[in-house]
Parts: sequence; C-alpha cells; structure tokens
Amino acid sequence: MDSITISAPDDWHLHFRDGDLLSETVAATARCFKRAIVMPNLQPPVTDAALAMAYRERILQASPTPDFGPLMTLYLTQQTTTQIIDEVDLAYIPAAKLYPAGATTNSQQGVASIEHLYPVFERMSERGMLLLIHGEVTDADVDIFDREKKFIDDYLVPLKQRFPALKTVFEHITTTDAVKFVNGSDASVAATITPQHLLLNRNDLLVGGIRPHNYCLPVLKRNSHQTSLREAVRSGSNKFFLGTDSAPHLQHLKENDCGCAGCYSAWGALELYTQVFDDLDSLDKLEGFASHYGADFYGLPRNTQKITLERSNWVMPELIELPNGDKIVPFFAGQELSWKLNNS
Ligand code: NCD
Ligand code: ZN
Repeated sequence: MDSITISAPDDWHLHFRDGDLLSETVAATARCFKRAIVMPNLQPPVTDAALAMAYRERILQASPTPDFGPLMTLYLTQQTTTQIIDEVDLAYIPAAKLYPAGATTNSQQGVASIEHLYPVFERMSERGMLLLIHGEVTDADVDIFDREKKFIDDYLVPLKQRFPALKTVFEHITTTDAVKFVNGSDASVAATITPQHLLLNRNDLLVGGIRPHNYCLPVLKRNSHQTSLREAVRSGSNKFFLGTDSAPHLQHLKENDCGCAGCYSAWGALELYTQVFDDLDSLDKLEGFASHYGADFYGLPRNTQKITLERSNWVMPELIELPNGDKIVPFFAGQELSWKLNNS
C-alpha cells in the first residue's frame, strides 16, 4: 500500500505552551489534527475555568485555521474544589489532569495526596468528566523505571475500585504493566500512547551517549515494554488511542547538564505513527487508533473530513527557528521518515 486515507485524526494529549510559542505549536498540530487535548501545565498552571477559557482564546488566535478545535483541561492541585469542577464542566471543558507533584515538567503545583482529591473525583464522575493521569509515583526511593508500575499498584487500582464509573485516561503509557492494567479494566479505562514510546526504547536514550532529545517522561523503558505497546496498538483495541505528548523545550534547555523532559514531535508524529503501523503490517488499524477511539472515549463525534498519507521519504529538519530567534530541535531531527501527509 503506497497511500492510506483515513478520517481526520485528533491528538488526545499535547503541550502547546503559551505566548510566542503558540504560533509555532498550534500551526504544527493543526496541519494534520482537527482537535487536541491541551495539557494545562503552564506556569502558572490552568487551575480554573476562567484561566482555561482565556488560554483557549489565545490558542484560537494563534491558529492558522478556524477548522482546528482545542479541547481544554483543568490542572488539579491540592486546592481544587468541587465548585471548580462544576464551573469547568459548565464551560464544556471535558477533562482534568492529575500530575503527581514533582512527577514531570511544571508539575510542582500538582497533587501531593491523591486521596485528598476523592471528593473532586466523585464530582467529576457524577458529571461525566474525564480524569487524565500522569501515572508515576515520585518517591525518591522508587527507581525511575519502576515508577509507572508502582503507581498502578498503589493508586490506580484503588482509585478505580473507589470510582468505577470515572472515565480515566492513563496518559502516555510506557510499560507492559500499564498495557495489562488497561486491557484488564472495564470500558471506563483507556490509554494514550506516544510515537516515541512505540518507536524507541531506553537504548535509544543511553547507548553510545546520552541523547537528550529522546528524553521524556515517563522515561523510555526496556524493549520488552516497547514490544507490549506495539502489540497493544496492533491488536486494534479501542482502549488505546493517539496522544503525541508533543512537548517543546528550547534547544539549550534540553542540551543541558539537567536537560528538560519532553519531545517536540508535532512536525512528524502522525507520519511516525503511520510508520509504526506499517512496520507492524497493520495499516488497517491506524484509523481506529488515530481518528476513532479517542473521540468515542471522550463521547465526541468522529471527524467527517479525510486525510491522506503517502509513502514518501523526507528528512525531519535539524532545527526549528522561532521568529524571535529561539531554537527547538524537533523529535527525529535529521532522520528519515517514510510516510508524508498529502497536503494538497
Ligand atoms: C511534558 C512537558 O514537557 O510538559 N514532558 C514530558 O516529558 N512528557 C510533561 C508530561 O507530559 O509529562
Ligand atoms: Zn504530556
């Protein structure tokens, strides 16, 4: 197959940032995705409905097309109240994001005690709002490669027992344990998977030198986990859908003795997912993953427009230069991709 036409896809997890960066990030996503779930980990974070709506306006202003729909999320903190949940739901904000405090970029104001938020989860469940979870513990004595599994055992299992109806997205899963947890859960649980976790494993981070542009959180795992993620998408299960976790950081902040976590994949994420499904001889499963299952899980209509990808080689630029001179190294920089979005 040299070309594939699918319903227009959506990105169910990404980071647009704010200010000057929006003209870059929103355009890069709107080139192929119709909607995106926009993460709220700004500085300061998006902690109420008014902040989310104002942020949405800034994204719309920066969008090169009126055809793109940002879907906003609430950043849960220790101070989030049920009243904030009511206001957010009334503003048609579909989801709230749980960052364990200290787990990842801009998560300092995240949640230190998950049990403390149980009244908030109760209200979200009643209102049909989605809970999006960065599923890693932050205990200093837990090995970074074990943090996702420990989060499942210590927090996710009890959470789902307590709130069986709460729609929960286990974001950017990275382990066999997470795939098993999601597969073993009922229809209230789903997961997003990033292109980097499908394409790479920890060797791509550490063998031959540290590669800061492959560093993201949750960190890349050993190849057996990568294989489980690839199996999950190849299975065609509607519990797994596209969430790029595209997360730009300036070049000098990644190429640094304490480099930031996050891969800026928006320039090629859709093409890279296509490459993965092609490698797995499963191009017929791409459309469900990229364009159907996320919308279904969120209870939103599927997109009616179509897009076409063609088998064609091109090289990801080494560098993206912003109008103000700042530089970002995109994910897969300088490497060849074998599928291309047909923009005509
Ligand atoms: C994300 C970011 O940079 O905001 N970084 C990352 O490594 N994925 C935050 C996140 O999703 O964990
Ligand atoms: Zn993210």
